[in-house]
Amino acid sequence: MPMIRECVVTTVGPMGQPHLAPLGLIEDGEHWIIAPFRPSTTLANLEAAPFATASFIDDVRIIVGCVCGRTDWPLAPVPGWSTPRLAAALSHAELEVIRNEADPKRPRFYCHVRKIVSHAPFLGFNRAQAAVVEAAILATRLGLLPREKIDTELAYLQIAVDKTAGPVEREAWDLATAKIKSYLQTQPD
Ligand SMILES: Cc1cc2nc3c(=O)[nH]c(=O)nc-3n(C[C@H](O)[C@H](O)[C@H](O)COP(=O)(O)O)c2cc1C
Repeated sequence: MPMIRECVVTTVGPMGQPHLAPLGLIEDGEHWIIAPFRPSTTLANLEAAPFATASFIDDVRIIVGCVCGRTDWPLAPVPGWSTPRLAAALSHAELEVIRNEADPKRPRFYCHVRKIVSHAPFLGFNRAQAAVVEAAILATRLGLLPREKIDTELAYLQIAVDKTAGPVEREAWDLATAKIKSYLQTQPD
């Protein structure tokens, strides 16, 4: 399996409006692949304008926020590049699509990595951040997973949150789990 880097990808819509989506970038030699499921705004934007910016962050509230409908996170312009980055990015990568592999479910956009720029230090791994990212992914796949798997995964992830979270991670965890729990309440037992 290839290495996948979880990040927040900015694309730009037809009216110039930026769009944020948490996505996993798939490493493929010197290229990175963006693989959005159909239908999605990221996919439509990339088909129209083949540029994206990947923001690498440690504020996991942004990842959870995006999957819970909050997408108004501050952006910063990228000099000489059409697609902004998250202001909170520790680093960003400028990605230009060089090839599009069609697929009815999940097309793959092969990107040339034009530039990677650092903005703030990376201060080490944190288990609660990783747990929040997992919970955010769960929150986007609720209709596809059996309830037992959701309950088991949440219970396991909670351990890392209880042991290693700071206030930012706790806030993000609470937001992700609130979304998941409100979905589960609508489901028959
Ligand atoms: C950490 C993380 C990684 C994700 N990776 C992908 C991905 O590789 N492809 C995808 O289609 N959705 C992925 N998702 C779900 C998308 O973020 C979500 O469906 C989003 O709404 C994309 O659709 P949009 O472009 O219409 O906003 C991921 C979500 C999270 C939290």
